Amino acid sequence: MSLLSRKISELQDRREKAVQGGGESAIAKQIAMGKLPARERINQLLDPGSFFEYDLFIEHEAREFGMEGKNLAGDGVVIGTGTINGKSIAIYAQDFTVAGGSLGSMHARKIAKIMDYALRMRIPLIGINDSGGARIQEGVNSLAGYGEIFFRNTLASGVIPQLSVILGPCAGGAVYSPALTDFVFVVDKISKMFITGPEVIKSVLGEEIDMESLGGARVHSEITGNAHFFANSEAECFTQIKTLLEYIPSCNECKAESIKPTEPLKKFKIEKIVPVDPTKPYDVRDVIKAITDSSQFFEVQEMWAGNIVVGFGRIDGRTVGFVANQPLVLAGVLDCDSSDKAARFIRFCDAFEIPIVTLEDMPGYLPGVDQEHAGVIRHGAKLLYAYSEATVPKITVILRKAYGGGYIAMNSRHLRADFVFAWPLAEIAVMGPEGAANIIFRKEIMEAEDPEAMRKQKVEEYKKKFANPYVAAAKGYIDSVIDPTETRNYLKHALSVSDNKVVKRPSKKHGIPPF
Ligand code: HXC
Repeated sequence: MSLLSRKISELQDRREKAVQGGGESAIAKQIAMGKLPARERINQLLDPGSFFEYDLFIEHEAREFGMEGKNLAGDGVVIGTGTINGKSIAIYAQDFTVAGGSLGSMHARKIAKIMDYALRMRIPLIGINDSGGARIQEGVNSLAGYGEIFFRNTLASGVIPQLSVILGPCAGGAVYSPALTDFVFVVDKISKMFITGPEVIKSVLGEEIDMESLGGARVHSEITGNAHFFANSEAECFTQIKTLLEYIPSCNECKAESIKPTEPLKKFKIEKIVPVDPTKPYDVRDVIKAITDSSQFFEVQEMWAGNIVVGFGRIDGRTVGFVANQPLVLAGVLDCDSSDKAARFIRFCDAFEIPIVTLEDMPGYLPGVDQEHAGVIRHGAKLLYAYSEATVPKITVILRKAYGGGYIAMNSRHLRADFVFAWPLAEIAVMGPEGAANIIFRKEIMEAEDPEAMRKQKVEEYKKKFANPYVAAAKGYIDSVIDPTETRNYLKHALSVSDNKVVKRPSKKHGIPPF
């Protein structure tokens, strides 16, 4: 055997040993929990044969508590680059079979290295989290490692898309890396995210709670809004990641890929979806599907703050971010959560040069003590800030109601919408006819012989005067009143004419959004 052959054989032996993770029994335990081993996850997500792994032979630096000399394969994390549907990406996957995927200093250094690559190469970063958190035996060194990761998450924010996939526990401070990234994917029964676990809660507060109810996939998809995509299995989660990557660009200076345009499906008849009666609900997603190529719509945060719908679709082959009030939930009213949801999505689209189409039909901000005390002023302001700040092409279609502060907030001309179109049913006013008539004609109504008849008459008077799109059209606040069936054509044209949009803003270090 030649020297080279011996060296190659040694390399193969080392490789084989290194990829065994935490060994057979730990891998069997992982699989029994319905979880795939780290490399298997990468193989399922990436194009076959496209993955190149780095730092396979890294050695951990834990010395205390009997850790010296312990074999922790790859220090519990797999890093590398590869492709997904031909698109280059950088990825890390924590390996729970090795010391519970806990984050020691070398583990953190590997993650930092792949983050640095992703940022330098301007390619999306995908992080698969499956870890017991800071490696307890490494003390402050593991905490330092988290700090390095959080710093890089922030540095890369708005430059490359960052996707966090929670496929196991993600406990303690570890949750803050996903929270700093753009999209968080969770899988039912597998994902667990919390700052303090059940044991700490029991000892500090004396309360018993299981991990699932504390921070399971449903909790983060329906209640906290921390998760953006919910899946029933790891395989479904990987499909969602692949779909998302098809819509978005690889970096802030690259354009999202355009594909061959297709027409919406004929079954979505746009003129039949929105009821004439402004109090009747409908599913705004049907309007989106009546507009997009092949009626495809990839919704983000579908299970949280349902009164606003956000997500990606294509018009004439190009990616568009949709923000739409949802009359099916709370009449599409704006509140704290829906403002947060939309503001964050708008900022993502703006950072990555994705034009925003806003579909408006809402009665304004939700009144009430709960909302006021929850900070609807601060949260609602995020929406105003995000729309005002965005310089990508911004187009609004007012479908029906556009009342009060909501009219301004939903990408009005006044926040620098490039195009505002309104359907003939649109009602643009300070508030709805009933409320308005009761306030401004209170005296006449009270003093009338038949107050109810007078109220009705005044409501009709108000409707005639203000509950239409023509007052706003007369001022140029909307550009065109359009037939609903013309919507896609108007949007196609508006998007194409905005292709070279340039906006200059005052120079500043950065703004101070109402976080
Ligand atoms: C070192 C750890 C570890 C950790 C797990 N392990 N977490 N080792 N540091 N943080 C090890 C276990 O000792 C065990 O080793 C193996 O991983 C598998 O763990 P199990 O407990 O057997 O698994 P399971 O029953 O599935 O429970 C998973 C778990 C639990 C819920 C995640 O391990 C757990 O509660 N771990 C601690 C979570 C935590 O509090 N982490 C610190 C958070 S504070 P053996 O050798 O027996 O197989 C934090 C601060 C970061 O992260 C701050 C940044 C700003």
